[in-house]
Amino acid sequence: MKGHSMKSIIPAAGLGTRFLPATKCSPKELLPVLDKPVIQYVVEEALEPEGVDEVVIINSHEKPQIEAYFSEDLDFENMLRERGKSELADAVHEAGALPVSFAYQDEALGLGHAVYCAKDEMDGDPFFVLLGDYFVPDRQMCVNMQKVSQEHGGASVIAVAPVPADQVNRYGIIAGECVGSLDGAEVADEEEGTVWKVTGMVEKPAPEEAPSHLFIVGRYLLSPRIMDLLATQGTGAGGEIQLTDAMVRLLDEENMYALVVDPDQGCDTGTPAAWAATNARMALRNPAQRAAFIEALGKEVKLG
Ligand code: G1P
Repeated sequence: MKGHSMKSIIPAAGLGTRFLPATKCSPKELLPVLDKPVIQYVVEEALEPEGVDEVVIINSHEKPQIEAYFSEDLDFENMLRERGKSELADAVHEAGALPVSFAYQDEALGLGHAVYCAKDEMDGDPFFVLLGDYFVPDRQMCVNMQKVSQEHGGASVIAVAPVPADQVNRYGIIAGECVGSLDGAEVADEEEGTVWKVTGMVEKPAPEEAPSHLFIVGRYLLSPRIMDLLATQGTGAGGEIQLTDAMVRLLDEENMYALVVDPDQGCDTGTPAAWAATNARMALRNPAQRAAFIEALGKEVKLG
């Protein structure tokens, strides 16, 4: 895949019901983590692997604000510059200059359907899918998945992580066997950095039906063949067209690998509590904000 141009897909057409009433008129993707919308972190992560030069956001027509955010606004920028706020103008410019395009999903038919909505934007190359309720600040998860893919002839690679048995029914769960590790590092089975050959997958299994306790984290590097399979994919768990089910069919034709990651490398923004914790984590990590954040919170909680 070296030298090839690739795209990443970010499904973002959901209603954001977990954040109502906040999401009554502003999309959850534009909720800020510190001073940037959640989705910008995901877009920046999606552009990090070698060769990725465009991000396709799957949006619904109900959320034009996302498109507005990623558009250039020279008048606004110039106004900021005239007022001597050039750093803010640069930040505004940066968001508008990111290589983002849009495809639309106007019916909530499932993740598989959302990904399929980008089919006309794809050029028959492998592509990444990044779920937007989670972002990885150091942006290395997809980069590492790409390394695993390159070590296995360009095969599809998904990120997985251990999950407690009583939570398997919230996720896609893989079956497989450990076949090595990233960069040949010495690590035990199921530990971060191990690479598994995937032999099966089940979307949201009951605990007794789960083939392992490795769940699909929401980062995928997929063969273009998945688009053909999604075209004929019927509904599965929850009555939705599941990406996991199309990946199971892909296994009949192609190899697929899973990289075990530490999910805490990333930040969850999927619920108000997780989003609030992510803001706190990011504030504590940010040298410019840390002291002010601790001071502001100080009377409420003693942070170590
Ligand atoms: C989706 C996928 C699932 C995966 C999960 C990760 O489920 O279908 O396989 O484990 O994301 O967050 P959802 O959370 O959309 O129900």
